[in-house]
Amino acid sequence: MSKRSIAALKVLLHLLCLAPFAYLLHLYRSGALALDPDPVNYITHFTGNWTLYLLLATLAITPLRRLSTRIGFIVRFRRMIGLYAFFYATLHLATYIFLFSGYDVITALAGIRADHPGEIVTQWKLIWPSIADDLLKRRFIQVGLFAWVILFALAVTSPAFIMRAMGGKNWRRLHSLIYVAAIAGVIHYWWLVKTGVRTPWKDTAVLAVLLMARVAYTAAKRRRKPAPARTDAVISGR
Ligand code: HEM
Repeated sequence: MSKRSIAALKVLLHLLCLAPFAYLLHLYRSGALALDPDPVNYITHFTGNWTLYLLLATLAITPLRRLSTRIGFIVRFRRMIGLYAFFYATLHLATYIFLFSGYDVITALAGIRADHPGEIVTQWKLIWPSIADDLLKRRFIQVGLFAWVILFALAVTSPAFIMRAMGGKNWRRLHSLIYVAAIAGVIHYWWLVKTGVRTPWKDTAVLAVLLMARVAYTAAKRRRKPAPARTDAVISGR
């Protein structure tokens, strides 16, 4: 695939990944979101779902690439899709902090404008008890935050210069944590739905297939590897 085609596909992918965000902005600006019976709930669920879709899409790149050498180029889009998963996860977390828990951004900004930057902390102190309470009592919040922290670590270590500084092996080891983030995301989903609700099953099924593909590939690779040479024979000269 030529450089120009790759660049064109990247632009298309940026547009596709930004489309849900643009749609959300459109709902807000057109007033349609305000007509929803629970707009904050809508945004939380919307951003949560898109985080999961993009996480699963990132994980799907490697097994898809292995299906045919002709589509090997798709690996170049993996990092971008992963970063968009982090983008939606951060929007999701921000929705929780600023809208769900009620951080008063307007008052904080007014404080900054009036030369009282301490207002940022004052507002934070007001919502912190309810967040701390959620963190202690709700295990779906704990596991969701755990997934976000992993995605944060992967996002900050994603630039090529950090990869070079870390060394390819260490970097790949760290970035395989994306599987842990996806598993934590799915567990988060199961733990937040009411007992008997089965809506997360589709995401779970996709994740299970991707994990099985990974395990099958690793097992096949190990089988193909020649057995290591017997070092005792070398040492003793036999
Ligand atoms: C990678 C990380 C995460 C993923 C993949 C994720 C995914 C999801 C999904 C799929 C939903 C449900 C959507 C639906 O029902 O349609 C959801 C809901 C929710 N998530 Fe997350 N989430 C993540 C992190 C977080 C974090 C860090 C927080 C807050 C600290 C959080 C708080 C919530 C809340 C409050 C809800 C709504 C719960 C309710 O309806 O009662 N999530 N999330």
